[in-house]
Amino acid sequence: MYPELEGKCALVTGAARGFGRAIAKRLAAEGALVIVNYRRSMSDAAEVVAEIEKAGGKAIAIRGDVGKEKSLDKMFDQITEQVGELDIVIANAAFGVPGNLLEATPHHWEVTMSASAWSLVAMTQRALPLMKKGWGRVISITSDGGQKVIPGYGVVGPAKGALESLTRGLAYELARKGVLVNGILAGLADTKSSRSIPGANQVIQHASRHTPKGRIVDGDDIARVVAFLCSNEADMICGQFITVDGGRNIVG
Ligand SMILES: NC(=O)c1ccc[n+]([C@@H]2O[C@H](COP(=O)([O-])OP(=O)(O)OC[C@H]3O[C@@H](n4cnc5c(N)ncnc54)[C@H](OP(=O)(O)O)[C@@H]3O)[C@@H](O)[C@H]2O)c1
Repeated sequence: MYPELEGKCALVTGAARGFGRAIAKRLAAEGALVIVNYRRSMSDAAEVVAEIEKAGGKAIAIRGDVGKEKSLDKMFDQITEQVGELDIVIANAAFGVPGNLLEATPHHWEVTMSASAWSLVAMTQRALPLMKKGWGRVISITSDGGQKVIPGYGVVGPAKGALESLTRGLAYELARKGVLVNGILAGLADTKSSRSIPGANQVIQHASRHTPKGRIVDGDDIARVVAFLCSNEADMICGQFITVDGGRNIVG
């Protein structure tokens, strides 16, 4: 547990399910007030808020599409009105159009890049004026698709590559303002988005068999490392990605 997170305000995007849900619950357990962002999953987001409150934590749900500037404006207006400050941004939500690059369109590229890469900068720009304590954390979540070719990942992999580069660029620009920007490179997990991959069952079984730790990751594995990166223990980690995949990437 990290007592310095008590009383901090954290925005977790895509927090209604998957990794985001586990991250929201962990930061709330650390004593942070958590803004549970969702786009479509309103009832799931309400459930996350209820679970956090039942466990003695504080949370509110706010709708917002991270890929749309106007929606982000509205979401940050609501954060300003309802909370008034922000210390932590977890850029977890991602949206991408799967398929091969040869069939991708400029529209696929634009919506994927907006939601999965540019959103990090768009949210950080809006969050900075709310980071009033001279202390802040911004964390992005990527996958090995940013560095390797995953068949059928199409424009999603390049968007993750851009997200990683933007994470380093923001880390450089914000380090002297007391805001640390880092990322987590997550291994395959069994979530709704990975279940949409063609042949998901086989992909998940294969990954489990070839992961040195003997299982694929889950949301709590990611949430623990998010909490660490938010803590003061991570004070000199800047512009880095921590791989959380049970050792999968060390195996050929
Ligand atoms: N699962 C994996 O194997 C894996 C591996 C490596 C990295 N990752 C990364 O980890 C992150 C979370 O993935 P996950 O598997 O937990 O996903 P998930 O269970 O499918 O959840 C994705 C969440 O993102 C939200 N979302 C999508 N587009 C959005 C938008 N434009 N604005 C706001 N919210 C949006 C969805 O919200 P609504 O339901 O409300 O629309 C949903 O709650 C993503 O960045 C993903 O790329 C996942």
